[in-house]
Amino acid sequence: MTVPLIERFRDRLPVGAETPIVSLGEGSTPLLPAPRLSERLGVELWLKWEPANPSGSYKDRGMTVAVSKALERGASAVICASTGNTAASAAAYAARAGIRALVLQPEGAVASGKLAQSLMHGARVLEVRGSFDDALAAARALAERGTHALVNSLNPHRLEGQKTAVFEIVDELGAVPDVFVVPYGGGGNTVSYAKGLSELAERARLVSVQAADRRRTVASAIRIAEPAHREVVASLDVEISTVTDAQILEAWAQLAKLEGLFCEPSSAAGLAALTLDPPRGARVVATITGHGLKDPDAAARVAPEPLVVDPDPDAIAAAAAGA
Ligand SMILES: Cc1ncc(COP(=O)(O)O)c(C=O)c1O
Repeated sequence: MTVPLIERFRDRLPVGAETPIVSLGEGSTPLLPAPRLSERLGVELWLKWEPANPSGSYKDRGMTVAVSKALERGASAVICASTGNTAASAAAYAARAGIRALVLQPEGAVASGKLAQSLMHGARVLEVRGSFDDALAAARALAERGTHALVNSLNPHRLEGQKTAVFEIVDELGAVPDVFVVPYGGGGNTVSYAKGLSELAERARLVSVQAADRRRTVASAIRIAEPAHREVVASLDVEISTVTDAQILEAWAQLAKLEGLFCEPSSAAGLAALTLDPPRGARVVATITGHGLKDPDAAARVAPEPLVVDPDPDAIAAAAAGA
């Protein structure tokens, strides 16, 4: 049986014997070598494959802690604003806990797979006329009324859970890598990684990668104009890197074609930054944050349409040769 993240790291998390554990078997995700990209970039590249979490993104690490703690305090409902993955995760853990989830998402801006997840888990999903930032402001205001526990990454329990990715990486490599690379949306995960490193009393380069056009990027998960954690990120020893949509899409396709890993576009932001400025000879861990199946429409925008053929071996052989 998969050991729940809270059990694996109990001594480093704010939980006690009285905390009810809400787990879906999160954490302990694969750390995969990336031989082809390593060769191309001249680095020793490892990929922390967070889509292996139960809802398909790294959010589950924080959500198991946030929902467990909310339950401990007697909450009967959670609320979040989301570009999709927080919502899918919150909805899944709320379902597991037997409590309600209210999701506020920017109208028409959430990938279809993520929306399907929230709906299937029984969350109440409301589309807010406005941006993610508007939805987050509304979620915070509602949470202050005391009816719902906020499970956005402003909730410190989320960050506590997410820092465990650093512990796993260091455990598995047997040493701290030279460089960690993560995508930068609201900045919660960046803060978590810095926290994880500091709790291990270790130092490494931490590169956090944002989209050049935060308001309109194709990478919908990091389409956040005003990062909630911007000030904290700025106060930390974090390098901010900026990449264009074209660079994100190129890195995204390379990962799928060269390493057999299909992530969502936002998750490739870190790889895009590495491609622009590879730290040659360094051991690098890039965290791949979410699964490609969450955003099939993004893939349809860049991938070729399949050819339609008759079930005739000659026609198929001819069509295949043209590939
Ligand atoms: C797949 C994915 N990657 C990266 C991020 C950005 O993480 P953060 O907001 O913690 O900076 C998000 C946030 O929603 C996400 O869903």
